[in-house]
Amino acid sequence: MNESPDPASAFYNPRAEHGFLGRSCSITAVGSYVPERVVTNAELEKMVETTDEWITTRTGIKARRIAAENEFTSDLGAKAALKAMERAEVSGTDIDLIIVATITPDMTFPSTAALVQQKIGAVRAAAFDIEAACSGFIYALEIGQQFIMSRTYDTVLVIGAEKLSSIINWKDRNTCVLFGDGAGAVVLARADKPGLHASVLRADGNHADILSVPGNVCGGRIVGSPYLQMQGSQVFKFAVKVLDEVARETAAAAGMQLTDVDWLIPHQANVRILEATARKLGLPLERLVVTVDHHGNTSAASVPLALDEYVRAGKIRAGHRVMMQGVGGGFTWGAVLLDF
Ligand code: UT7
Repeated sequence: MNESPDPASAFYNPRAEHGFLGRSCSITAVGSYVPERVVTNAELEKMVETTDEWITTRTGIKARRIAAENEFTSDLGAKAALKAMERAEVSGTDIDLIIVATITPDMTFPSTAALVQQKIGAVRAAAFDIEAACSGFIYALEIGQQFIMSRTYDTVLVIGAEKLSSIINWKDRNTCVLFGDGAGAVVLARADKPGLHASVLRADGNHADILSVPGNVCGGRIVGSPYLQMQGSQVFKFAVKVLDEVARETAAAAGMQLTDVDWLIPHQANVRILEATARKLGLPLERLVVTVDHHGNTSAASVPLALDEYVRAGKIRAGHRVMMQGVGGGFTWGAVLLDF
């Protein structure tokens, strides 16, 4: 049952009620790519003082993919993008804009999106990166849809791609067991009926220090640590709290009920965070998308990777209502509610 949105509400979303400039926008295809090399918990047992039992019970992670030394974020992103484009039956010349969400760009500049642009032959496309850590894909999706709704562009490629292995300290058992590499991409295009109903994006820099890579390149040197550092239990509690809040805010903005959601795709950080979120929202675990067990945490890539896997498996199908959520460094968090 749908509720009428209240224009006085802080979450009132005019596009849910009226559309926006007479347009709609939806995801027309999904693609993903993971590097060939699988790193199991058993392999990590040989590198740091850990056990498969600890990693499995605390995180649900059994394996993750790790990119080759000469394989970069733009390579992963381009491969995911080409699969999505093939399924959407669009070629490089049809793409108006490429947005890559990443915290592991190939280099300081040019942007990873510009490198993807060259690799997929998107000769007409504008291209830029956005950085919102593990919320990056959710932020990028909303930015992409704004360009379509404003009639600036018709076809936007939104990519989440990460080579997190490049910023992991492989001697730090607190972090190295958690992360993996990969990429997911969607083709976002103008549509006849509403696809993306509502989104809510948030940030709070007060929590910047609990999850970060504090280092930077300055004066020809790396200043500060180039490795990911995290206060795990603080991140855990923050994530469970805001994933619950933002799901409710997004459903309210769309004038929809959480019970109408067919699939919940939270950022794939830890199976305990995912299950706690579903429980708090009153959603049965059968509607929860879980791929963290074999991908690990792939930051901006995690949601589109998970989406693609469930679409390929025939679980997420046309017409299903999907809530996607991100939470991560910044802190940033957000959600998008859409009909697939
Ligand atoms: O994308 C967003 C970014 N990240 C996340 O969302 C991660 C959020 N946090 C988490 O997933 C969890 O907090 C962790 C999986 C990181 C940790 O689980 P926890 O239940 O919160 O454990 P903890 O931090 O309280 O640590 C418990 C113990 C510590 O030992 P002591 O101090 O109790 O003796 C750690 O040193 O576990 C120890 N520990 C490990 N032991 C074996 C930490 N890492 C490992 C390890 N193997 N890999």
